[in-house]
Amino acid sequence: MALQIIVGAQWGDEGKGRIVDWFAANADFTARYNGGDNAGHTVTVGETIFKLHLVPSGIIHPKVVAVMGNGMVVNPQRLLEEMEMLAAAGIGISPARLRISYAAHIITPAHQALDRALEAARGKDNIGTTGRGIGPAYTDKATRRGLRVADLLAADFSERLAAHLESANAALKTLGAAPLEIEPILTEFTDYVLRLTPYVADTAVELDAALRAGKTILAEGAQGTLLDLDHGTYPFVTSSSTVAPGALTGLGLGLTAARDARVTGVVKAFQTRVGSGPFPTELTGDLALRLRGTGEHPWDEYGTTTGRPRRVGWLDGVLLRYAARLNGFTELAVTKLDILSGLETLNICTAYRPKNAGTFSRDEKLFTDLPFGPADLAPYEPVYEELPGWKEDVSGVRKWDDLPSAARDYLDRVAGLAGVPVRLVSVGPEREQIVNH
Ligand code: GDP
Ligand code: IMO
Ligand code: MG
Repeated sequence: MALQIIVGAQWGDEGKGRIVDWFAANADFTARYNGGDNAGHTVTVGETIFKLHLVPSGIIHPKVVAVMGNGMVVNPQRLLEEMEMLAAAGIGISPARLRISYAAHIITPAHQALDRALEAARGKDNIGTTGRGIGPAYTDKATRRGLRVADLLAADFSERLAAHLESANAALKTLGAAPLEIEPILTEFTDYVLRLTPYVADTAVELDAALRAGKTILAEGAQGTLLDLDHGTYPFVTSSSTVAPGALTGLGLGLTAARDARVTGVVKAFQTRVGSGPFPTELTGDLALRLRGTGEHPWDEYGTTTGRPRRVGWLDGVLLRYAARLNGFTELAVTKLDILSGLETLNICTAYRPKNAGTFSRDEKLFTDLPFGPADLAPYEPVYEELPGWKEDVSGVRKWDDLPSAARDYLDRVAGLAGVPVRLVSVGPEREQIVNH
């Protein structure tokens, strides 16, 4: 049995797609267990840059079977577009290689419209969602009126879809948003049903059989630990279980499937976030610009899904420890180390201290763990440890011992804060730009 869970340790965009692609060279399956096309996972192979939103990142390897698990929310239109994009790039897409759980939920244009209307209604308190309908689709799932992939196959699907659209239109009206025209959506979906039906499967049964047959499964998390619905910076989170245990429920696997699981926490060498919410180590000014980039490189910090500039800051070791505990990381994959090259000094946040004397009874107390999780980080400010930087360009390094000693020290400090070893260091976006330690 070999299950490996690859999960974001921060606020998403850690480079999970790139790390999944690296491990997929030796895997049989890759399986997404949460989220929908709010995700944007980049895989770079030579000149080709794949931006995957729904199809698991392992699909780029010809022998890997890609599974979309029951924990996902799937926009059929976006999925079909992505399948076409992949096929046009020469990636074989067939029911033998792409399996969609019958129990995943469907995102409709009404969910997208509701997402936008709800965000508009939140005004300055908006979450900064991706506008992809994620929250409304998971809301329908939780209130037990969602449409599932299996419903696409039902004889009365059109009626069920029409009923959903009518009730969404009523909700849109109360939010002051324009209702949707129902007929064209019903027609579009007739086409989606025909095209997607061959891919629908009981993926939980297939994954269970694969594990029993000794196959290797990579469970690919979307978003990151700090965007988890239960454990993230609530309410500035997404609506799914992003953490490693979510891989089991989101794929329909039992606890024993994870008995010897390798849990790889993907950590960017610095911290980024797109959308609203707390970010104690956030930087502004020149240093922020330096870490974000100006958009001239494909890897600069602009959202893969929405193109929004990402907020950037120093690595937050308090939140990394939190992520290590919640996920049960067995190892780390640190990405974008190359971006730190050339900085004179680097800061890592190793603890928080209360911001205002008087807010806490013990003013000088340092927190290395959070008393009540990360939802309210406003009372704290980060305590930094300063480490020396390195000048060398590391993008051509492939061996741990060839990294500058200051870079190794930085990585050792990151490992120390997480309490698990760094196994992979990514030094560039391309498949081969990796140090396997
Ligand atoms: P994901 O959502 O976690 O899969 O990450 P994204 O694909 O949204 O964002 C990561 C970005 O960084 C992408 O543009 C990747 O190609 C790029 N990337 C990943 N690893 C590295 C790295 O080690 N160095 C550089 N320069 N870019 C990287
Ligand atoms: P990947 O898989 C970074 C953020 C949004 C917003 C919040 C809620 O590429 O790492 P949603 O549309 O999910 O309701 O938005 O979550 N968000 C992401 N940020 N990477 C992602 O995915 C994200 N998916 C959602 O910006 O703050
Ligand atoms: Mg992304």
